[in-house]
Amino acid sequence: MRIAVCPGSFDPVTKGHLDIIERAAKLFDKVIVLVSVNPSKNCSFTAEERVEMIRRCTRHLETVEVDTFSGLLAEYVEKVGACAIVKGLRAVSDFEYEFQQSLANKKLNADAETVFLTTASQNMFLSSSLVKQIAFFGGNIADFVPAEILEQIVTRLHRQEENEGERV
Ligand code: PNS
Repeated sequence: MRIAVCPGSFDPVTKGHLDIIERAAKLFDKVIVLVSVNPSKNCSFTAEERVEMIRRCTRHLETVEVDTFSGLLAEYVEKVGACAIVKGLRAVSDFEYEFQQSLANKKLNADAETVFLTTASQNMFLSSSLVKQIAFFGGNIADFVPAEILEQIVTRLHRQEENEGERV
């Protein structure tokens, strides 16, 4: 069985991520969407929330699983017996960082190939941080995130500081 790991922060998952996951699912027998747990990164959603949101958006994909990890991606890939790491590339600006990551991962796990899928043209500009910024200021993010999680994102992010103030 050919297994691919699709890693990222997914804070939150966007339509751009979902497109890459759907296309990876056509290429591999099983795709594990891997939510990274990085304590030094200030995420808007907990790892559990991010996993749950991705599960809700990938219900239609029978061969897709969602997991979390804290540690080296190369080790996780080895542990689950995956043959590939799948990443989406939006623009030339993504390339240098991704190139460096893929070389490091290759060094750490010679058996894992990094496979880059070029993003769909309508998602070229899309990123989780852009979505968060638009949502924070009350802009419409319906075109950018899967419908299943739209409300959750808006509720959490719209003027986050004010929401936090209300919660105290
Ligand atoms: O969505 P992101 O933030 O671009 O995802 C980055 C991610 C999680 C894929 C990357 O940071 C990662 O693989 N982190 C785990 C630690 C690791 O293995 N680093 C690469 C080896 S140099």
